[in-house]
Parts: sequence; C-alpha cells; structure tokens
Amino acid sequence: MTTAATSTREPQRAGALADRLGTILTDRGIDPTAPLTEPPAEPVTALELADARIPARYRRALADHPKVTAWVEEIARTGRKGPGEAPGISEGPSLLIAGPTGTGKTHQAYGAVRSLLAANVRLRWEATTTADLYASLRPRQGHDPERALWSLGRCPLLILDDLGAAKTSEWTEELTYRLINRRYNEMLPTLVTTNMPIAELRGTVGDRVASRLAEMTTRVILGGADRRRHPAC
Ligand SMILES: Nc1ncnc2c1ncn2[C@@H]1O[C@H](COP(=O)(O)OP(=O)(O)O)[C@@H](O)[C@H]1O
Ligand SMILES: [Mg+2]
Repeated sequence: MTTAATSTREPQRAGALADRLGTILTDRGIDPTAPLTEPPAEPVTALELADARIPARYRRALADHPKVTAWVEEIARTGRKGPGEAPGISEGPSLLIAGPTGTGKTHQAYGAVRSLLAANVRLRWEATTTADLYASLRPRQGHDPERALWSLGRCPLLILDDLGAAKTSEWTEELTYRLINRRYNEMLPTLVTTNMPIAELRGTVGDRVASRLAEMTTRVILGGADRRRHPAC
C-alpha cells in the first residue's frame, strides 16, 4: 500500500540534501558557500512598464491609422519638457475614434499610448471603458467616487473606451459630462472610442458632452468588417 511504503521509507535529512546539492554545485564550478548576488538590474523602459498595464490583447498594438499616427506625432512634438529633457504631455488635442464593433478602435487607442511611450514621451495615463467607469463610481462604503472622478479628470492622458455603449441614465450622463468637461476645460488629451454613429452620439451622451467632443477631438472613423470575425481584414 502506498501509505505504508511512504511511512516506512527512511526520512530524508535536510542536511543530507544540502550536502548533495553542495556536491552538485561544486561539480559545476559553483561555490555553494558564496553569498547570493542579485543579477544586474536591466533597465526597464517605460514601454515595458506600460505593457504590464495594457490588456494582453492590445500589448503589441500598433497605431497605424494615419490620423492616429499624426496625433501621436503632434503630442510628442508639442509636449512640455520634463526631467531629463524627455518630453512630457500637457495640453493637446484629443481623438474621437468611432466605428462599428471590431473595427480596431481599442487597438488604435492602446497603440497610440504605446507609440508615445516608444517615442520616450513621459506619460501618466489611465484607461477605462465607460461601463467600468460607471461601475467604479457607484457609491459604496469606503470608496470616494469624487476622488476617482477627479483623478481621471486630471490624468494627463485618458483612454475612455466605448463611450455610449453602457446603459445610460441621468446619473451616467452627469458623470460623463463632469469628466469630459474637466478634460475639455484643461485641454487634456483624451482618446475616446465609440460604437455609435457620430450623428447618434448626441442623443446618447447628451448635447453638453457631444458639443465639447465636437470641439476638442479630431474624428477618426474606422470602417471595414468586424476583425474578430474576419481576422485577415
Ligand atoms: N490594425 C490592426 N492590426 C491587427 N489587428 C488588429 C488591428 N485592429 C484591430 N485588430 C484586432 O482586431 C480585433 C478587434 O479590435 P478592437 O480594437 O478590439 O475593436 P473595437 O474596439 O473596434 O471593437 C482585436 O483582436 C484586435 O487585436
Ligand atoms: Mg473596443
């Protein structure tokens, strides 16, 4: 029986194991008594750090739409110099990336962030879908929704994904308005994506938001087939 066999086996002594390990290491030319040293730290680029925060699907995304690459170039060119002379971002234009489901809107948005980081632009950025935003701002104990909204409103670069896709109410309209209005006032670059045809956006997000978006964003209209269903497109 297995249990009996296990229990009758002579217990292994940790000391004996350590001796064997020591012999193996010595045979391989490694001194087992040498203190452990950390491997030399490899420089971690901002892009590598950002990749850890980017959802796996978009971790290799490249912004290849001409209007998106033009935006990246403008932001990188006009950024305020920060420590070490690396350009940072301050005020700048925003993009409204619109198109049907699966046409690559989220891909372009994360691709744009990756391109900025690859161009050594110092960048603090946040990304959220509107559905997640509303969920995170619902009042609950021990959480200050005002603070969360304030920090998204102030973040130098924000991806606001899928505007108009979540169920709307007066409450969501007010939150969207406050967020967009703050970013509009401060002229902070924002990458907004939406499934809605532009003409219908106003009816969904309200006139105050639609009007600000019209002024603050360049429109990027994506078309073609749903890439999820036709990956070769
Ligand atoms: N330019 C592109 N090159 C390669 N793959 C892409 C490109 N655009 C989108 N995809 C892929 O197509 C799928 C749908 O893209 P996504 O950005 O999620 O669409 P949307 O946000 O418009 O619904 C994803 O798997 C994405 O990785
Ligand atoms: Mg998307």
